[in-house]
Amino acid sequence: MQELTLTFPRGPVRTRVFSGAALLGEAAGFIAATWPGRRVAVIADAAVAALYADGLLRACEARALNARLFTFPPGEASKCRASKERIEDEMFACGFGRDSVVAALGGGVTGDLAGFTAATFCRGVPYVQIPTTVLAMADSSIGGKTGVDVPAGKNMIGAFHQPDAVFMDPGLLATLPPREIRAGLVEIVKHALIRDRALFTALGDELAALLAPGAHPDAFGRLLLRSCAIKAEVAAADETEDGLRQILNFGHTAGHAIEALSGWELLHGEAVALGIRAALGLSVECAGMAPGEAAAAAALLDALDMPPRRDFSIPAVLDLMRADKKARGGAALFVLLDAIGRVRERTSPVPDDALRRALAAIGGRP
Ligand SMILES: NC(=O)c1ccc[n+]([C@@H]2O[C@H](COP(=O)([O-])OP(=O)(O)OC[C@H]3O[C@@H](n4cnc5c(N)ncnc54)[C@H](O)[C@@H]3O)[C@@H](O)[C@H]2O)c1
Ligand SMILES: [Zn+2]
Repeated sequence: MQELTLTFPRGPVRTRVFSGAALLGEAAGFIAATWPGRRVAVIADAAVAALYADGLLRACEARALNARLFTFPPGEASKCRASKERIEDEMFACGFGRDSVVAALGGGVTGDLAGFTAATFCRGVPYVQIPTTVLAMADSSIGGKTGVDVPAGKNMIGAFHQPDAVFMDPGLLATLPPREIRAGLVEIVKHALIRDRALFTALGDELAALLAPGAHPDAFGRLLLRSCAIKAEVAAADETEDGLRQILNFGHTAGHAIEALSGWELLHGEAVALGIRAALGLSVECAGMAPGEAAAAAALLDALDMPPRRDFSIPAVLDLMRADKKARGGAALFVLLDAIGRVRERTSPVPDDALRRALAAIGGRP
């Protein structure tokens, strides 16, 4: 088992990240040792619950913890106020109160929903993350952003609430569909592109082995820990997103808009891969990135089978980008690179014609 300690300026001062095999028992042991006598609300979507909740509940029982499972239907549509309310009411009905701990067992949807539930339940109770998707292990379980989607937009209601610990067991990825694995790896590509050329090279070298059926979980473990460390280092430097943290948005400005326009037909990582391609085009045009560097980055997305193009309306994407909560004064802001592993501009408005060209290159229609 490997351990990484992340420190954040607020909230619990640190998050401990454990990576290794058979971690459900370790998670239960951590909870029992950290919060003796507390009740444990295991929150999971129904699909993940069917696979892994029993293992976690039994591990809790073996440590004399009073644990109970709360589930919701899988999918982004469940990351909403109604699910949160239902889970809270069920928790109260089962006698949960201030002495609760939440264990978020699942992908990013579960982490965001369960984390936000923990942030406000009885004015806030501690929680741990047990991510079960590549996206959640590489990205969403770290950094303390929690929340739900509302009609006004994705993640528009939420809170910063750091988990005390994150348990990453790549063995749990054995049941994750290959399409989800590939899309999740896009977030690791993003972390490499903004911060770490060595990680970019390692991804290129190890990708075929990672994607082979029955790939050894250890290979994932190393890349995931590095990816977490990057996310944490950036998020910790700027916990509330006004400055450095914006670089984590690389590829997401256009990516989020394309994801929404697809009616959630595209997975998040697939939409972000298109957004990264557009951001690479803009980086070449506006930030001096060498075309060969951008091509190498795009080739890694090709190797992940990410779509090179998609049919969408450029005006519709522009409208959504301007309405995004991260736009400033009606202008969409882009994170641009001048080389692989190095951000040139944290956020800059880009000329309209360059933006339209970059969107056309990934399939946008005028
Ligand atoms: N908080 C953050 O910092 C942050 C960052 C990035 C993304 N996110 C959020 O993460 C969400 C996307 O997360 P996701 O892609 O993990 O989606 P998800 O949680 O919906 O999981 C994807 C699907 O995989 C299934 N699944 C999960 N683990 C499995 C396993 N081990 N075996 C078999 N099936 C499994 C789930 O049931 C679900 O159907 C979005 O809502 C996004 O906004 C949050
Ligand atoms: Zn993302």
